[in-house]
Amino acid sequence: MQLIFATQNQHKLFEVTKLIDLSIQLLSLNDINYTPEIEETASTIEENASLKAWHIYNHTCNNCFGDDSGLEIEALNMEPGVYSARYAGVHKSDSDNIKKVLHEMKSKTNRAAQFKTIISLVMEGKEHIFEGIIQGSIAEKPKGVNGFGYDPIFIPKGQRLTFAEMSIEKKNRISHRSIAVGKLVNFLNHRNSL
Ligand code: IMP
Repeated sequence: MQLIFATQNQHKLFEVTKLIDLSIQLLSLNDINYTPEIEETASTIEENASLKAWHIYNHTCNNCFGDDSGLEIEALNMEPGVYSARYAGVHKSDSDNIKKVLHEMKSKTNRAAQFKTIISLVMEGKEHIFEGIIQGSIAEKPKGVNGFGYDPIFIPKGQRLTFAEMSIEKKNRISHRSIAVGKLVNFLNHRNSL
């Protein structure tokens, strides 16, 4: 089965390719030569995932899925959330975003946070939603060099290391994205076996 993943993010593609079943041929937007950026204009993670999937489905008429993720911090009213990629400003870097989070968290004792991924699969004109959440806490300072985004300041519950200190394999076993992708893969396998 061929499935388009509506992303241009190579980190995500790499992570998801390692998780997805071999019987599913995953095509990225690069593979189908789709270069325009899909604007993430919605105000929730759920709506952004959905708009990416429908955008590519309507453009290609191929089954596809889109995802959107964010870091939700309790003491910051679940921010940065849908604005995770641009928390410090549109053209700012991952390290600027981390600096802003640590600044906002300076006086906070509650450091509880979670990463959330929503995957929207559009298949034969019908949408299916899959959610992955991993709970954890915000570190006092960045640690580790692996991964991307807020990985250096996120410590999953029950772990001592940040995501950025873990190998990609270890992060993949427990991450929000792997939980959501696992649900997607189960759904696709079940459908294949019908
Ligand atoms: P996206 O919409 O899935 O690309 O995620 C939006 C933003 O959330 C990213 O640009 C990152 O800043 C952050 N993010 C999402 N997933 C992760 C992750 O696994 N590790 C670190 N940061 C992440």
